[in-house]
Amino acid sequence: MFRLPTLASLFLLALSEAAHASPCLASDANFNLLVFGLDGKDWNAGTQDTWTSGSAAKDITTSGRPPFDGSNTTCYLSQFYNAVYVMNGDASNPSAVHIYNPASSSWSTQSVSTGGFDPSNFNAILDHDTNVFYALSKGEMYFLDMGSLTSANASGLTWNDVGKPSFSTDNYQPVMALAQNHIHFLDVPNVPAGSAQIFVIHFSYFQPDAQAYSGATFPATHGQATSFFQASGVQQEFAFIPDDGSATYVINVETNTTTSLPGPSVKDASATYFAGITSLVQLASDGTVSYLPYKQGDVQTDQAASWGKVASIAAAAPPSNTSSSASGSASATKGSSSAKSSGTAGANADQSSDALASRELKIAILAGTVLSALAFGLL
Ligand SMILES: *[C@@H]1O[C@H](CO)[C@@H](O)[C@H](O)[C@H]1NC(C)=O
Ligand SMILES: *[C@@H]1O[C@H](CO)[C@@H](O)[C@H](O)[C@H]1NC(C)=O
Ligand SMILES: *[C@@H]1O[C@H](CO)[C@@H](O)[C@H](O)[C@H]1NC(C)=O
Ligand SMILES: *[C@@H]1O[C@H](CO)[C@@H](O)[C@H](O)[C@H]1NC(C)=O
Repeated sequence: MFRLPTLASLFLLALSEAAHASPCLASDANFNLLVFGLDGKDWNAGTQDTWTSGSAAKDITTSGRPPFDGSNTTCYLSQFYNAVYVMNGDASNPSAVHIYNPASSSWSTQSVSTGGFDPSNFNAILDHDTNVFYALSKGEMYFLDMGSLTSANASGLTWNDVGKPSFSTDNYQPVMALAQNHIHFLDVPNVPAGSAQIFVIHFSYFQPDAQAYSGATFPATHGQATSFFQASGVQQEFAFIPDDGSATYVINVETNTTTSLPGPSVKDASATYFAGITSLVQLASDGTVSYLPYKQGDVQTDQAASWGKVASIAAAAPPSNTSSSASGSASATKGSSSAKSSGTAGANADQSSDALASRELKIAILAGTVLSALAFGLL
């Protein structure tokens, strides 16, 4: 027999699955690893030396946070001001930027006017020195000046139009990375493998020609990119992980060289990444958090390094289960607003739209079951 709490949980699970909620990764300026919206909570996994200890990450969930029920949620560290900015953290308020202040463990919600910027369709970087976001949204560049904000400004902020890139953005799914106050666009149409188009932030200028990098050649394909931080000052390197996860490319913009490192153990086109100074961290869509230790300039060590799990996060918020036969009841008891679901884990293995389709089907079946059970209960 169905009981009402179970039905309610099932229904909430169905709703949360429908929203494609996604957690996100960042760190504070002291490089304590933060994961937001994982299993419905926020976690502080501490610094890299503690990630494998297995002692559980600290629950830092607190009031004022966004619900982390948005799609494609992204988090950015403002190293200069020690703040974390969150976009798409609240499905009901997609234009807002949520600000987490790690020093006071407090949240505030920045209201933002979007203009032509589309919060459901963009890629962005946060410039290190100016604390200004640059985003490519539907073929147009925009910027959003965050000033020195560690909490929301009552006056509100605005996305400003910069103009179109110098290159064609037809069918371009932007891949963007920041280093040396330059935005590097990878996988640009008609640009060969191993080269990037560049936007120079301080001069608001697109370099006319693509920049080539020697060494390993990163493929001209879609993927994820994230910048390594320095102890202070601007980024000099960024990582590029193609969607197939076949390798990790590190591009150094001082020497204009590329190094090829091991690809992540979890091959997941929907994974997101964050790099500190000495590691690249992956958040897979089933909630598994893994990392590759990294040492700038030490190619031998880096190429011999291997990806490991951040055990402290696994201990606090275990990855969702691949055996999803329990039709939600197991997951539902875990927390109704879970940011991930038992159904998503399969998407890891095959990355196919079949996995997504079967998840949609599962949602439909769940919802149908709930509704018919409710109707039955009412009779
Ligand atoms: C999320 O991102 C995917 C892939 O970039 C895109 O197709 C989808 O429209 C986005 N969804 C929303 C609601 O932003
Ligand atoms: C915040 O508010 C103050 C006072 O209204 C204003 O001067 C400032 O430009 C605003 N913006 C930022 C990014 O701080
Ligand atoms: C590396 O590329 C940048 C961007 O195109 C360029 O400004 C710089 O001079 C290059 N450096 C070297 C050492 O080639
Ligand atoms: C998956 O679920 C089964 C049964 O509930 C459990 O025994 C197993 O440990 C779970 N695996 C993971 C990775 O959570």
